[in-house]
Amino acid sequence: MSLTGLKQKTNEIIYSNIIKRIAFKFDAERVHNSFTLVGRFLGSNFLTRKIIEFDFSYQNKKLEQNILGIHFRNPIGLAAGFDYNADLVKILPGVGFGFGTIGSVTHGKYGGNEKPRLGRLPNSRSLLVNKGLKNKGAKAIAGKIKNIEIEIPLGVSIAKTNCKETCDEKEGIKDYINCIKEFEKVNVGNYYELNISCPNAFGGEDFTEEKKLDRLLTETDKLELRKPLFLKMPVDFSVRKTEELCNIAKNHKVEGLIFGNLTKNRKRKEFDREEMKRAGKGAFSGLPTKEASNKLIAFVRKKYKRRFVIIGLGGVFSAQDVYEKIKLGADLVQLITGMIYNGPSLIGKINYRLTKLIEKEGFNNIREAVGKGLIKV
Ligand SMILES: Cc1cc2nc3c(=O)[nH]c(=O)nc-3n(C[C@H](O)[C@H](O)[C@H](O)COP(=O)(O)O)c2cc1C
Repeated sequence: MSLTGLKQKTNEIIYSNIIKRIAFKFDAERVHNSFTLVGRFLGSNFLTRKIIEFDFSYQNKKLEQNILGIHFRNPIGLAAGFDYNADLVKILPGVGFGFGTIGSVTHGKYGGNEKPRLGRLPNSRSLLVNKGLKNKGAKAIAGKIKNIEIEIPLGVSIAKTNCKETCDEKEGIKDYINCIKEFEKVNVGNYYELNISCPNAFGGEDFTEEKKLDRLLTETDKLELRKPLFLKMPVDFSVRKTEELCNIAKNHKVEGLIFGNLTKNRKRKEFDREEMKRAGKGAFSGLPTKEASNKLIAFVRKKYKRRFVIIGLGGVFSAQDVYEKIKLGADLVQLITGMIYNGPSLIGKINYRLTKLIEKEGFNNIREAVGKGLIKV
């Protein structure tokens, strides 16, 4: 076994047999907060960053890509929802991520929906989420990261403040725009994700209504953003409804699409029925989102060719899962749930195995594999 393989195996054993066993006995949100504190500490000094990097990270030239003028050292990113207050930006490269998204950030801060707002469904390989966009607000977060040097591309996920007032369309648009402006002012981050698909906030996914989306994007166009804008799309929409939204997006300054957000569909076949009976309020991540996200990625790549950069996410637990999304048409891939169930060594392991997969199929680099396995949708 190579040194890389040995490190990955050891980290995996430690996570599955010790850390996860203990952590999964405690409330999911408390564990997440504790892991964030540890991650923030590990990222806070050069030595701990280098130790983590030596232990976890795997780099290979074949995984590098330049997309929209941004250099990605590998295609695996941390999705929005794990680091909402930008505490982990210094440790992400060491863990092996090629890029990461903070947030979702909203213009006004929000303390979160009523607890419990995070739960585990291990048999379904899913998480129950009802955070409702808990975060410290755009001004505080932009101010916090403006002087931090970050080694990898950083995305800022922008959402609408979770309150009754922003359910009004005009107020909602103003709120999104004010949030983006806070980040434009300090010029941090490499791309924006406009989150129009948060399933557990006031007003629901109101900007997934075509005319409203059109009016929102007309306003973001006016900002003449210095960075590419991605739309974070719902995963539960049909191909037809998704097409309608893409037809709006293609007429605006939207460079990319992200498929997709959490699922609200409790009837998905991947759910363990007993776990579902116990599940409270919220929407779900992980395996139950995988098939729907893959279908939408494949559809959009086929229909819109290279009009949009596509970030695929939902139910990524292995290099095979990543490779599937890439071959269906995703340029980049993000994850959260896979890391919670398989541990942080998953990122290095995916990158290592992904390199082997592309070599095995005769591709010289990851770019060559994008969209090479299109399916009929
Ligand atoms: C705890 C948690 C919080 C999330 N919060 C957000 C969020 O604030 N904004 C957002 O765009 N997506 C959010 N998501 C959705 C994820 O970004 C992702 O779309 C979804 O979890 C599917 O990916 P996964 O299966 O790899 O977790 C959240 C997901 C989880 C698990």
